[in-house]
Amino acid sequence: MNIDQLKVVAQQIVAPQKGVLAADESSPTIKKRFDSINLESTEEHRRRYRELLFTTEGIEQYVGGVILFDETLRQTTRDGTPFPELLSRRGIVPGIKVDKGAKPLAQYPGERVTEGLDGLRDRLAEYRQLGAKFAKWRAVIDIDEDDIPSQFGVVANAHALARYAALCQEADIVPIVEPEVLMDGGHDIARCEVVTSNVLEEVFTQLDAHRVVFDGILLKPNMVIAGKKCPRQASVEEVAEATMRCLNRYVPAAVPGIVFLSGGQSAEDATDHLNAMNTMGVHPWQVSFSYGRALQAPVLAAWKGQEASFAEAQKAFFKRCKLNGLARDGVYEREMEAA
Ligand code: 13P
Repeated sequence: MNIDQLKVVAQQIVAPQKGVLAADESSPTIKKRFDSINLESTEEHRRRYRELLFTTEGIEQYVGGVILFDETLRQTTRDGTPFPELLSRRGIVPGIKVDKGAKPLAQYPGERVTEGLDGLRDRLAEYRQLGAKFAKWRAVIDIDEDDIPSQFGVVANAHALARYAALCQEADIVPIVEPEVLMDGGHDIARCEVVTSNVLEEVFTQLDAHRVVFDGILLKPNMVIAGKKCPRQASVEEVAEATMRCLNRYVPAAVPGIVFLSGGQSAEDATDHLNAMNTMGVHPWQVSFSYGRALQAPVLAAWKGQEASFAEAQKAFFKRCKLNGLARDGVYEREMEAA
């Protein structure tokens, strides 16, 4: 393990103005996204869509890393340049989703645990050869208003995250550690804070026990936010304050960066929340984004699978990258959305 190299890569991904594009939708997930624009999920459509994203001019100013799915890591542009090579040439670090999805946790109805550890050491070696310098593993923490998640479910997910992270560091790949407390449901922001706190505490306990070096990871948490069905939605300031309070308590200062997931927030809300956190003063870690839907929803809506809309869709993508790049430095304003 070369810890200096891991640190350099982690810092490069969250350099000033920069964050991560999560474009690692698995085949079933990208099918859902394409369904929303009535586009068939063929391999060529998936390739063309990723090409649209990765060739957008100017995004390298705001995008430090892109997370790819296995299929995409092996695809090329129309002129035959492998996607990881295209990204690296533009100064964007290529990464890879390595988990195999969240499956029901036996004996714990309503909870899930992420699979994908078996054979991971060999897969990481191959991904490294294909150009991936960082990886992602998503743990899904289901939440309700009373007894989900169980402590057992939290520990099972944290343990798997830590095993994954240790294997990544062994292979000189920066692990993005993603424990996602879902936004689904009617729970309020206080309940989200309690659960997120517990999850982060357990995740760092497990990372430490697995001898993961904190300087060589990135954390990808949810924001502390009320469930989508909660009648009382918290203000932007409340979300920013609760999230920062939680992270300050549980995330060691050695971690180079926190890159939030958007989790189903609107593109504008995700940007606004990130901005508010970055206006709250200097934090021990970089506070940035690793958005999937919040970067891509407007792009898909503009593209709709039509070649004629390719340039328009790239414009929409550049706009979201830029606004999140500004929010990541705390200089975004909601009025900029109209420009
Ligand atoms: P969203 O920003 O759409 O939540 O996706 C981020 C991600 O990579 C989830 O694993």
